[in-house]
Amino acid sequence: MRIGRLTMERGALLAPLCGITTGPFRRICRRLGASLVFSETISADGLYQMNRRTIALARFAPEERPIGVQVFGCDPERIAVAARIVEDLVQPDLIDLNFGCPVPKFVKNDKGAALLKDPPRIGRIVRAAVRAVSVPVTAKIRAGWDERTVRAAEIARVVEAEGGALLTVHARTRAQAYGGEANWNWVADAVRAVSIPVVGNGDIADAETAERRIAETGCAAVMIGRASIGNPWIFREVRHRLLHGVDAPAPSPEERLRMIREHLALHIEDRGLFTGIREFRRHLSSYVRALPGSAAFRSWANAVESREELEAGLETFFSRLSPGAAHGS
Ligand SMILES: Cc1cc2nc3c(=O)[nH]c(=O)nc-3n(C[C@H](O)[C@H](O)[C@H](O)COP(=O)(O)O)c2cc1C
Repeated sequence: MRIGRLTMERGALLAPLCGITTGPFRRICRRLGASLVFSETISADGLYQMNRRTIALARFAPEERPIGVQVFGCDPERIAVAARIVEDLVQPDLIDLNFGCPVPKFVKNDKGAALLKDPPRIGRIVRAAVRAVSVPVTAKIRAGWDERTVRAAEIARVVEAEGGALLTVHARTRAQAYGGEANWNWVADAVRAVSIPVVGNGDIADAETAERRIAETGCAAVMIGRASIGNPWIFREVRHRLLHGVDAPAPSPEERLRMIREHLALHIEDRGLFTGIREFRRHLSSYVRALPGSAAFRSWANAVESREELEAGLETFFSRLSPGAAHGS
């Protein structure tokens, strides 16, 4: 897939997930085959004011490339300045604009999904960003505000006309929040409307579904969010299926344990021991969720503050999995 000058490997994209897709998780997902990763959404206003904590959210390590930094805001001029600041400070591979966040804090300030009601404004924002930077500018939308105002195709045309290099469609409306099912007909509508790559997003939880969605809609790739939390191997599985047409072997318990320890180490390196361990709990719960005995382990792990204790507990938890599972069968 080509995004402006950028060529990307086949595979799935890691969705921007606020509080989740920080550097350590992005590194793990890239290593396991995510073809592109994104920062969480970052306030254009915060960047404009050169807020230190906001700017920190845009930073990434070289091995995370290719990476898109996602920005949200509603004022074209502020977005342009923010995009230029991001380009100057961190030189991402692309800058993505958020037109889909459903949370009230965003929409009541005319940001995120609120902009779905105003495609011309989306156009002005995309144009301002495209003019401001030399990296490709992409956009991520929901299909519409609600069922009666689905505008995926119309917004796709606006994004393309203003120079956007790629569009991701989360196949839900704002009114749906995260409920119901994603309606991939809306992704197909956007694909038919434009010639820039369209990425489909919503409820992909396995490689077979990813392959089917691409075949059904003609989208250039799929983006995966929630299903990657605790299962970053999904990126390897999608990539393998797209390249070879068959399923990749599932990760063995040994590999799971190794990756969990590596992910923990990256968190601690990135955030320090105290915060690193706390922030890692969200991931750890998801890593073990489907495994036998996980409920007791999770409540124990959520109270542990020492790295050594946590690592020892992990070893014990994984060594107690059934002998078959322990050998990856
Ligand atoms: C906890 C959480 C945080 C999210 N943060 C962002 C974000 O910062 N920017 C964005 O564009 N979408 C965000 N999303 C939406 C996801 O990127 C994605 O569009 C959505 O979860 C649907 O994909 P999925 O079914 O694969 O999870 C978030 C979703 C969740 C659940």
